[in-house]
Parts: sequence; C-alpha cells; structure tokens
Amino acid sequence: MIAQYPSYQQLYDWPKTLGAQVDYWHIKEENNWLPQIEELRRLVKSNTKLICLNNAAQPTGAIMSPKFLSEVVEIARSVDAYILCDEVYLPLDEETPYSPIADLYEKGISTNSISKTYSVPGIRVGWVATQDRDLCNEFRKIRDYTLICTGVFDDAVASLVLKHKDKVLERARKIVKSNLSILKEWVENEPLVSMVYPNAVSVSFVKFEELDPTKTEDFAIQLLREKGVLIIPGNRFDLPGYARIGYCTDETTLRQGLKLLSEFLREYQV
Ligand SMILES: Cc1ncc(COP(=O)(O)O)c(C=O)c1O
Repeated sequence: MIAQYPSYQQLYDWPKTLGAQVDYWHIKEENNWLPQIEELRRLVKSNTKLICLNNAAQPTGAIMSPKFLSEVVEIARSVDAYILCDEVYLPLDEETPYSPIADLYEKGISTNSISKTYSVPGIRVGWVATQDRDLCNEFRKIRDYTLICTGVFDDAVASLVLKHKDKVLERARKIVKSNLSILKEWVENEPLVSMVYPNAVSVSFVKFEELDPTKTEDFAIQLLREKGVLIIPGNRFDLPGYARIGYCTDETTLRQGLKLLSEFLREYQV
C-alpha cells in the first residue's frame, strides 16, 4: 500500500502491524503541505492494493481538492487499488472545494466521525462510506467481531448532534473563522515563526524559524512546564522544527497562549 506521509500515524502504522508493505507518499511544505502526483505515479505498482489519504490532513490542515483527488483516482484505477480517505477534518466553510472520496471513486472508502468537525470527541461514533457493497458487508462482519454495536448513549447523542448538524457546524465555523484570523495576525507579526495556513479546519502547523530542529521536543516540554502552553512538537510527526497548534479554544486563552509562546521563543536557548 501507499500512504500519504506524515499524517495520522494509525493510517500507515496499522497496515504495517498487519504485515502490509507500506510506501510513503511524502507531503511537501513548498507544495502547501500536499504530496505530488508525479511521486504517486512513481510509487504505484501493479500489486498496490490501497492508497491511504488524510483529507484534510493532520497535522497541517492541508486539503486535497476534488481535481487533485481525481488524479489520484485515475492512478488508483489503473491498478484497481482502493483509496481509503480519513475525512474527520472536513473543511468548515462552503467556499473550499471538497469532495469525499466515496463520491469520486467506486473503490473509494471515506471514514469520518463526530470527534473533529462536529466537536464531540467524547462520543465514540464514526462511520465508513463506500459504493462497494461487498466491502460494506466485510466491514459489518468485522464490526460484529469487535464492537457488536455502538453504545446506546453514544448512539443517542450522536444522532442528536447529526440531527442538529447545521447549528453545530455553524458554531464550529464561527470559532474556526475568528480564531484563524487571530492566529494569522500573530504569525504575521511574529518574525520567529511562519505557517502555511490551514483551510477552514481546526489544526495548524507552525514552523519555528530559528529553533534548532533537534531541540523541538525539549522546547515543547519546557514551554509546557514554564508557561503552561501545550503544543505538539513536530518531531512526533517526523517533522522536527515545527509544531501543531490547536487554535480553537476560547479567544482569551488563544491570545494568551500565543503571547506566551512568543515570549518563550525569545527566552529559550538564551
Ligand atoms: C486524522 C485523524 N483521524 C482519526 C482520528 C481519530 O478520531 P476519533 O476520535 O473520532 O476516533 C484522529 C484523532 O486525533 C485524527 O486526527
């Protein structure tokens, strides 16, 4: 199989655990954190069974457009491979062109849940969508052996959330929109960082311009200890020198956290 890399670790380490040979399709900062189609053409083999994507991507928030995905579909179709796309970070605005892979490809598998875009991570409900009915039956069998069924309470809350999804998404949209503009203002006024901005999703990935990349984890731990600010060091995504910033907290906390991060960027290594 071929996996977009780095992204959500489970998407390539689970198949490895199950014995699959996994080739990485690398994302590139200079390409707005997207991988390149030419590289996929080089990676794909006649025995490729699966191409695994994450759209929008963790940790960068990068989105593959329907046009980009249609090129991936064409490559997958040429070797009859499935495409599995983890879509938990659906973009929140309507302007960003977006399409679930299950709509674009007869062997496309979309996975999603209510934990990210719908902001209800405590309720453990997700779903799989595919046009392939035989595959759906395989999924049902596996679910019978693993979960049997969803918890009744989780099921009820998830149904309520999805029933009112317009209101839920409207709230999330407002938070992402206003907090992203605060984050952008900070990045533009902070010479020690830069960022390829995410598209209407709640994760962002910052680059520390002057930090020694080998110190990324130490920096994050010291930042937490000394300032109480939590970021995810990029080395944990195999991208040292960067960090994931979840910016969808309340406005006061976000502003205070960014201020403290700026302070610490100056204090560290002095
Ligand atoms: C890209 C991605 N996919 C899936 C998950 C897991 O989602 P859930 O909590 O709904 O199982 C996460 C959680 O961080 C994620 O970032």
